[in-house]
Parts: sequence; structure tokens; C-alpha cells
Amino acid sequence: MAEPSPLTIRTLTEMDLPAFSEVLASAFLTDHSEDLLAEERAVFEPSRSHAVFDGETMIGTGELLSRRLVVPGAEPVPAGAVTSIGVAPGHRRRGVLSMIMRAQLAFLHEAGESLAVLWASESGIYGRFGYGLGTQYARISLPRGTAFRRDVAVDPEPVRELPREQALPVVRDLYDQVWHTRAGHLDRDAAAWEYHLFDGPERRAGRTRLRFAVHPRAYAAYRVKSDWQVRGPRSTVTVHELTAATPAAYAAILRYLLDIDLVGEVVLRLGTDEPLVHMLADPRAAVRTMSDALWVRLVDVDRALMARRFLVPLDVVLAVTDELCPWNAGRWRLVVGADGRAEVSGTDAPADLALDVAALGAAFLGGTRLTTLAGAGRVRECRPGTLARASLAFLHDDEPRCLEVF
Ligand SMILES: CC(C)(COP(=O)(O)OP(=O)(O)OC[C@H]1O[C@@H](n2cnc3c(N)ncnc32)[C@H](O)[C@@H]1OP(=O)(O)O)[C@@H](O)C(=O)NCCC(=O)NCCS
Repeated sequence: MAEPSPLTIRTLTEMDLPAFSEVLASAFLTDHSEDLLAEERAVFEPSRSHAVFDGETMIGTGELLSRRLVVPGAEPVPAGAVTSIGVAPGHRRRGVLSMIMRAQLAFLHEAGESLAVLWASESGIYGRFGYGLGTQYARISLPRGTAFRRDVAVDPEPVRELPREQALPVVRDLYDQVWHTRAGHLDRDAAAWEYHLFDGPERRAGRTRLRFAVHPRAYAAYRVKSDWQVRGPRSTVTVHELTAATPAAYAAILRYLLDIDLVGEVVLRLGTDEPLVHMLADPRAAVRTMSDALWVRLVDVDRALMARRFLVPLDVVLAVTDELCPWNAGRWRLVVGADGRAEVSGTDAPADLALDVAALGAAFLGGTRLTTLAGAGRVRECRPGTLARASLAFLHDDEPRCLEVF
């Protein structure tokens, strides 16, 4: 049998988009289509995309979207939002993904971007590359008509259904008002909006186009799957995104969604600390399933830690292991002042806590406690008494939340 040809990797140009799109369709087991191409074109950043070639043939892909990520207590920071990861089925388990992961981390390190984030198709893939499970989401399903507690204040201004073109300016304006208030959220430029609200047949999957319910201070974008049963209609409303600027507007848009006629069930993807559950007369009406959401990778441990604020003052030495990014491996002294700002510097002092960079990524947004990771054997307390304090310092007022799949 002939020797396999050596694999090469490079960044891309606009000309590479059709091949890039075909590799992705093949990797994700879907038919390639103009629709898919248009969706990928919306966000394609060729100079931040990598592909692996077997000879002349593209067989592996990956892209780093330019986004800004809200971190606890501080200004949003530029982050590489990893997407379009795919390897042609005939070329798997030969290290193609590993080549892409290494190239992306080197790229971000050189570009001075200290964080990478992603959603995983399968959650066993990215831990080995230093990504930690930073946020989770709750899939919440509620029967139509689920009642609120009597003391819930519902903003009385009406919710109206608007055609897409009329809804978009209002929707974008509302998102702009709130996105930076929650760690884990991402900024959205025109391209990110186009991708996020893409409405081709692939995304609809047998449901309606996106419908927009708009209140002066809240909106919901949702799809409906019709279901006419012998006992009557039992359609399902699936909420793609819900954003509210005030608690009363949040109640108003939820009340609207829960009261749509012909519906049996309303399904939402929400944060893990969602107020909704505490608004229900019968909280058990909300059936909740948790799953992994944003995976976080510290590309540069020191710069990433200095970009966020911490909850309480701290002075610890972290011994970090990082097989892929040797510049991160070693001991770091993390000193947090009364204002929550951190200074991070390399040190020879003995370690207080020892952990892998993936565990640090999991704790970074404040969504996974260091004490929980210690319970899982992923953080080791070398100096007694340091774990609880450090764990507290990494938390933030709210749970981090990322509900936007990119
Ligand atoms: C996931 C995928 C990109 C992996 O590509 P690949 O080139 O086969 O990966 P590599 O050969 O570099 O594998 C590196 C390591 O990850 C492991 N790995 C790869 N895919 C995995 C998976 N789906 N689940 C668990 N482990 C996986 C490999 O076993 C290997 O482990 P090792 O280092 O212990 O030997 C590829 O299978 C694919 O395209 N899948 C379908 C599309 C997809 O899910 N993309 C990810 C979108 S978020």
C-alpha cells in the first residue's frame, strides 16, 4: 500500500470557502448546499481560518471568529471563538484535529488574544486540548399556560409579533443594552447577527421560520413545530433567544410565550440560575436538563487572569500544567487587591494549588467552583486552607451564561 502523503496546514483566502464548506458538510454528515455555503459565508474570516490538506485536497477545517467575551467584573476581552471544526470522515484519528488545535492556539498567542471559547459537538473532544467546561445551560420545558406566582410583576405593555425586518432593529438594540452585563456573553457585529438568526431549511428542521415576539424592553425569537393530535393541537414552541432588560419585561415576554394558543409545550434554553423557576406557582412544572455550554481555554494564563476581576482579595501560587502551550506551564503567583484586580507573575515559590490549564479554564468565568474541581480530583490543594479562599475569589455575582451557539 502507498505511504499516506504528508499533511500540511495553512490559513485560508476567500477562494477556499467552497472547499471549506464541503469538508464541513461531509464532516457533519449533511448534504452540501447553497444554503450551508451562505451561512458559512456570513461569518467566514479566511485569515483566521485553518485547513489541513492531504496533498492538494482539503480534509480538515477550523475557524477562529473575532468576538469579545464578557469576563467577570471587567471590560469584554477579545477572544477566539472556535467554530467550523471538521475532519473528512476518511481522514479521522490521524491527528488532523490536533494539528488544527495547535495552529489555532499558536495563532491566538501571537495575536495577543488570551482566550479561546467553543461549543462542542461531542463533549469528550476538547478537554485534551486544555478547554474546560466553563458554563452550562438548562433546557427548560413547560406546559402551555404554566402559572406564575401571584406576586410576579408583569410589565403591562403589550407584546407584539413583528415581521423579521421590523423586529431586527429593536432586537439588536435590546441586545446591545444588555449583553455586557453577564459573563459568558459575546458581542455581536452584523456578521454574527446574520449567522445567529440564519433561517435556512437546515436550521428550521421541520419547524417554522423564526418568529419575533417583541416588547418595548424584551424580545423572543422562536420557532413552532405543529402537532395536531386527536385530542387537539399540541404544537411545540422552541425559543431560539430570549432577552429582557428588566425583570417585569422578562415576565411579560415569558407570559406571552406560555400563553400562545394551539401549543402544548414551550421549550427554552436558559441559564443555570434562571429567575424563571422562582417565578412559577409550581416550580416543578419546569422540567430541567443541564448540559455543557461554553468551553473555555486560557491561551495566556497570566493575561487572561489579569483581564477579569475577582470577588475577594487573594494571594496564591498556582502550579499550572499545560501540554500544548508551554508558555503557560509553571508556577504563577496570583495576587488580588481590594478592588478585585489581579497581578499575575511567574514565581519559584512553592505551589498552593496545582491544576491543569483545562481546570483553570473551567473556573475562569466563575461557573465552576475550584472546590468542585478539587472534588473531581482536578485541583490539588498543596497548602491547606488555600482552596476555599481561591474558590470563592473566582466566583462572581451571577452565574456566567452563554446561550449563543456559534
Ligand atoms: C471530532 C473530529 C474533528 C476529530 O478529528 P480527528 O482528526 O479524528 O482528531 P485527532 O486524530 O486529532 O484526535 C486527537 C485525539 O482526540 C480524540 N478524539 C477525536 N475525536 C473524538 C471524539 N469525537 N470523542 C472523543 N475523543 C475524540 C482522538 O481519539 C485522539 O485521542 P488521543 O490523543 O488520545 O490519541 C472529527 O471526528 C470530526 O470531524 N467529527 C465530526 C464533526 C465534529 O463533531 N466536529 C467538532 C465540532 S465542535
